[in-house]
Amino acid sequence: MCGIVGYVGARQALDVVVEGLARLEYRGYDSAGVALVGDEIEIEKRAGKLRNLRDALTERPLPSSTTGIGHTRWATHGPPTDRNAHPHTDCHNRIAVIHNGIIENYSALRCDLEDRGHKLISETDTEVVAHLLEDKLAALGGAGAGGLAEAMRRVCRGLEGAFTLLAVAVDEPGAVVGARRNSPLVVGRGDGENFLASDVSAFIAFTREAVELGQDQVVHLRASSVEVSDFHGDPVPTNTYHVDWDASAAEKGGYDYFMLKEIAEQPRAVADTLLGRVTADGMLALDELRLPAEELRDVRKIVVVACGTSFHAGLIAKHAIERWSGMPCEVELASEFRYRDPILTRDTLVIVISQSGETMDTLMALRHAREQHSKVLAICNVNGATIPREADAVLYTHAGPEIAVASTKAFLTQLVACYLVALYLAQVRGTMPDREIARTIGLLETVPAHISEVLDTVEPVRELARSLVGERCVLFLGRHVGYPVALEGALKLKELAYMHAEGFAAGELKHGPIALIEPGLPVVVIVPSAAEQPLLHGKIVSNIQEIRARGAKTIVIAEQGDISVVPYADSLIAVPAVPTLLQPLVTTVPLQVFACELATAKGHDVDQPRNLAKSVTVE
Ligand code: F6R
Repeated sequence: MCGIVGYVGARQALDVVVEGLARLEYRGYDSAGVALVGDEIEIEKRAGKLRNLRDALTERPLPSSTTGIGHTRWATHGPPTDRNAHPHTDCHNRIAVIHNGIIENYSALRCDLEDRGHKLISETDTEVVAHLLEDKLAALGGAGAGGLAEAMRRVCRGLEGAFTLLAVAVDEPGAVVGARRNSPLVVGRGDGENFLASDVSAFIAFTREAVELGQDQVVHLRASSVEVSDFHGDPVPTNTYHVDWDASAAEKGGYDYFMLKEIAEQPRAVADTLLGRVTADGMLALDELRLPAEELRDVRKIVVVACGTSFHAGLIAKHAIERWSGMPCEVELASEFRYRDPILTRDTLVIVISQSGETMDTLMALRHAREQHSKVLAICNVNGATIPREADAVLYTHAGPEIAVASTKAFLTQLVACYLVALYLAQVRGTMPDREIARTIGLLETVPAHISEVLDTVEPVRELARSLVGERCVLFLGRHVGYPVALEGALKLKELAYMHAEGFAAGELKHGPIALIEPGLPVVVIVPSAAEQPLLHGKIVSNIQEIRARGAKTIVIAEQGDISVVPYADSLIAVPAVPTLLQPLVTTVPLQVFACELATAKGHDVDQPRNLAKSVTVE
């Protein structure tokens, strides 16, 4: 949610910053802007995607500079106009500021500034920071020699809410100052140059050495130094780490869209998430969890908390956790969790699932759980993000960078991580025979090949999607683990194709939603294995007949060789047979392809759907 980049070094800052913004555009694309430091602050900013800014920079090139900041916006306060685009400046255009997050007390701050004669021209919460910096700098006697960093610390002490801020000032030309509270910010350390960004992908083409920043810290970046302090000016130690993927992982690699590439990467992502976690005798070695076996044996209840697609992974995890570890498991939307005062105790294990590790709803749920003395285990895809840093334990998914806004490969790897946690709980608690655990892990290891098979045979799904481009609505039905898959299929279609799409538990149909069925309405049905779940299979075949009798166009996803559904399927998508609990790993894939193709046929940009952002850092 908003991407920010800062650079100071020997290169042209504009090139580095715009290149970084291109890699961060998935975080928001309502507007983009840059500020360069020279004799004056030079700013260009434009509403809309980054290409609008690039066009403006071609029309009116900015003077060269080796210090700069840039921003790509997901609008919160004020509509996405040129005026509200970041950077924002002070009264005299000597300071420029960019911001990710929400400054909750900005109205009071703005009134106070206006009472004291400041003229603010945008509708954003960010602009107050530029003016506050102006005041603090005046009080300090100017920006030189670290004044900007001290002014930033003073300003931050009076801000409420969540923010990452970057500032540059004419009076301190070789410096960028950053501040962080509850929003991501990472330093990239180069040789005679340094970088700041919302995530490492912005500077990975220049350096793979990164420095984590903690909460309530200010960083003073110069070409040859990185100084980090808390909001009171006390220096804090930093932790440098090496990023283990390179720039090519964050590029399209010949695909038209990142989403297509990420769908295609799923067999590898799933295999990588299993890698190194299975012992020679087929059991699990998850010492990395940092949760001792004795502690896991004492757990009495599990609560999974997440948002959106990650929440759907949690709904599937519940089945695996309860079945394999015998432990009760609740699943809750992070945005609802802390507001209902959930019953949490020391023997509750809270599992938070987040691809980005920065989702504010999930972060707040994590903090609430820890305040109630529950242990928190994070399942996350981004090394060093806030959620894994604040959790008691972490299991990383190894999907690699996910750039497309709609989650695909991260979802499948979240499922794998959830299965691993469920099996590990079963292993340490002895609720499943060892040979059964080893057999299940062996089956999980065959899944990448099955996903590849789905991807190799998915062309008819694309054709089907294109044939439905004129439809206004699609329903998705499933039961058991097929129900969250139906929810996920519907979410993908909503966010990418902007169509009305709903997922229902197929058994609920007769309690209301069946009224929606009308002739020609496409309905996707996920069918469980006839061999493993004969009772459920029979029920869902009846559901298909009920909707078909009312004229629905049935699109059936069933196991290869399931001939019982053939008479009732207008379109049949056959997927390889895998055990029921693992079925979402194969049934989700055609639904991703379906949504992606239908949206593309409608002419939408599937990497950057309207109104969305990848990392939702506001509540
Ligand atoms: C949908 C999607 C979102 C995210 C949700 C949580 O395709 O990507 O629903 O799943 O915003 O994000 P994370 O997992 O980063 O916490």
